[in-house]
Amino acid sequence: MKSLLFGLVASLAAPVNSTFVVQCYSRLFDQRADPLVSPGVASGHVHTISGGNGFNFTMDYQKARASQCSTCSIKQDLSNYWSPKLYFHAQNGSFLSVPIIGDNNGGDMGGMAIYYLTRGGPDNDKLRAFPPGFRMMAGNSSKRVETDDFAGRAVTHKCVGAAGGDGPDTKGLPSKKCDTIRVQVTFPSCWDGKNVDSSNHKTHVVYPKDGNYDGGRCPSTHPVHLVTLFYEVYYDTKGFKDMWYGDKQPFVFSNGDATGYGYHGDFLNGWDEAILQKAVTNCVDGTPNCPTQTFGTFRTQGEAQACKLPSMINEKVTGVLPALPGCNFVGQSAPANCVAPGLSVVPTPESLGYVDLTKSKGWKYIGCGKDDAGKRTLSSAQTYGNSMTVELCIDFCKTKNTLYAGLVYGGECYCGNQVAADKAPVKGSLGNCLMKCSGNKNQVCGGASAISLYQACKGGACSNPAKRESRKLASLEHLHANTARDVVME
Ligand SMILES: *[C@@H]1O[C@H](CO)[C@@H](O)[C@H](O)[C@H]1NC(C)=O
Ligand SMILES: *[C@@H]1O[C@H](CO)[C@@H](O)[C@H](O)[C@H]1NC(C)=O
Ligand SMILES: *[C@@H]1O[C@H](CO)[C@@H](O)[C@H](O)[C@H]1NC(C)=O
Repeated sequence: MKSLLFGLVASLAAPVNSTFVVQCYSRLFDQRADPLVSPGVASGHVHTISGGNGFNFTMDYQKARASQCSTCSIKQDLSNYWSPKLYFHAQNGSFLSVPIIGDNNGGDMGGMAIYYLTRGGPDNDKLRAFPPGFRMMAGNSSKRVETDDFAGRAVTHKCVGAAGGDGPDTKGLPSKKCDTIRVQVTFPSCWDGKNVDSSNHKTHVVYPKDGNYDGGRCPSTHPVHLVTLFYEVYYDTKGFKDMWYGDKQPFVFSNGDATGYGYHGDFLNGWDEAILQKAVTNCVDGTPNCPTQTFGTFRTQGEAQACKLPSMINEKVTGVLPALPGCNFVGQSAPANCVAPGLSVVPTPESLGYVDLTKSKGWKYIGCGKDDAGKRTLSSAQTYGNSMTVELCIDFCKTKNTLYAGLVYGGECYCGNQVAADKAPVKGSLGNCLMKCSGNKNQVCGGASAISLYQACKGGACSNPAKRESRKLASLEHLHANTARDVVME
């Protein structure tokens, strides 16, 4: 299948049998989290996680639907999509995290492309949207051998940009050097019509009984034909080409799988059911405008990028690591003395990207909002400096007698008396405030078009700050609600 990750609108008409594509431009975070397989605890291995910010270690359909932002393009979809993170196993034994296409040093993250395919059986049976509460897993994390059943065919790897041309799809990880390894997972599409989940998150759905893994008749045990879900994740492997050694390919997934046969995808439905059904019914092949007509406006790439969650386990999962997080060992089981960290208790202000100045200065952090060089979020007064800190900015705004202080681009300070709704922080999301302050590298001072916002505790706005802060930290409610800006694509 032709890749759609870049240029959604331009290429929407291209793939055969593609109803529509959910472009998950970005991800919430990379974390040992998996509310399907490991509810309430740290999961066995690291996943790259996209979708609505209602995501949590324990969650349900209502939590997903209550998301205030998503890293994916279609607004009526607040589902979560996740799959294993990829690492390069270096010759000296270290593990180096492999970026996903779209990751950069500025804190932008790539995500994945999710295809919703209208693949009915030969009888052209009616396809159904995912029901509320529906969740499922495709693939098997323990698998290390190649099989040719439909489940085995449903997980493939494509080597893009190899010497001598792109490789054919292979079930395991490619054995040659690739610019990109694209991993592709097709989910089962035949549902038992009753259970929205099952104990192994698999047996309530099966692949079709004839045809192939991605199309054919559904068996009588699982008669309800769902829309077919297909994930594509693009691992950016070109930076590792000069570091190969030995006679085996050197990449390994977070679950310790160096074969690729144990790759898997997880899905937790967060759709508005009626609109998904409408799209599945109406947007058949040859109706390229149908998704736009059905879904209206899409989330912009910037909105998707600003939807981020704070890390909830105190462990490093990117960069150079001495071992795979979670006691995963390549091709062998973990030693008995290996203990992986569990969930961290309460995130600290620093881990959430702000400084708690409620007591010392009488100003509280209200979240990371949006800023625009053409129309500043706060415009009453401003000051710049290459030694900017949060304290300096607040002191400056105090002299201007304003209610809000905001920091942008590491060293810019703005003051004002109101924050427009479309610039306000999104509830439950960290936003895109990722730049260190020029005068204090332990503090965060906004981003390229993101503003770290502080509010004066006037009129009792921060009364009983200690109690208030700890409660807010636990629930991330310190981030204000916001109506996401609707921006029309095309
Ligand atoms: C192992 O090698 C990698 C790749 O060259 C390097 O980035 C890493 O720092 C090395 N690890 C150690 C512990 O020296
Ligand atoms: C997953 O794979 C393992 C190892 O091959 C196998 O023992 C197990 O039965 C599989 N699980 C399922 C649900 O197919
Ligand atoms: C996630 O769940 C934990 C409990 O496991 C809870 O303390 C926290 O508030 C939840 N986070 C969000 C954003 O709802």
